[in-house]
Amino acid sequence: MTERLRLNNAVIKYGDISAVDGVTLSAKAGEMIFITGSNGSGKSTLVKGIAGLIPLSSGTLVRASRMSYVPQYEDADRDFPARVREIVLTGTQRPGKLFASRSDRERAESAMKSLNIYGLSDKEIRTLSGGQLRRVFLARAICGNPELLLLDEPCAGLDALSHETLFGILRGLLADGCAVVMVTHDISDIDGIPEGRVIRISHGKISQDISHGGLNHE
Ligand SMILES: Nc1ncnc2c1ncn2[C@@H]1O[C@H](COP(=O)(O)OP(=O)(O)OP(=O)(O)O)[C@@H](O)[C@H]1O
Ligand SMILES: [Mg+2]
Repeated sequence: MTERLRLNNAVIKYGDISAVDGVTLSAKAGEMIFITGSNGSGKSTLVKGIAGLIPLSSGTLVRASRMSYVPQYEDADRDFPARVREIVLTGTQRPGKLFASRSDRERAESAMKSLNIYGLSDKEIRTLSGGQLRRVFLARAICGNPELLLLDEPCAGLDALSHETLFGILRGLLADGCAVVMVTHDISDIDGIPEGRVIRISHGKISQDISHGGLNHE
């Protein structure tokens, strides 16, 4: 099956400290990987490394080129004068592409509808609540039609309905062959996806890697 991610013996350092310390991880098309672990264990650093936002100090990374990433904290400039629709549409942009096409606009609309933010399309992002802004960034990520989706604590600040909506969207993406890597503190999140792997990170290393679900399906 097609591989969406292969990370081999990755080390990521801040100064002399290895926040990620020799992680080997791969994800196939349609595979769900939950990353869990205590505060400061290196989960966000790992995902940022996979996203290409922080360079690996050593090791190798190969990943699908169509990748979307939703950070743990939106360090977006809230005063940036942009409307919801414009932010979501940027998720369809790729290097070398000049304008959003009609199908890009349709995908952005459908992502906004599926995350119940279509009614906010014309609002400026500075006027949104935290949970609404999170849904804008999720819509931005999914309308890029990703082959690899990286989500860092995507459920933080989401109400129960938005949480269930997100998991419905993820099940659809997985069925279409997207690999999803999700950092979560809430282990009950794994119940939202029928099959997956749960990887625990401790002090920058994988301390546990277990499969859940699908064991009786062969
Ligand atoms: N920009 C940075 N500069 C220096 N050290 C950092 C930086 N970002 C994170 N760290 C350190 O790297 C380690 C891992 O941080 P990271 O944010 O990856 O943890 P985390 O597992 O995502 O934690 P949390 O559950 O709180 O989100 C921590 O010790 C943290 O203090
Ligand atoms: Mg984190």
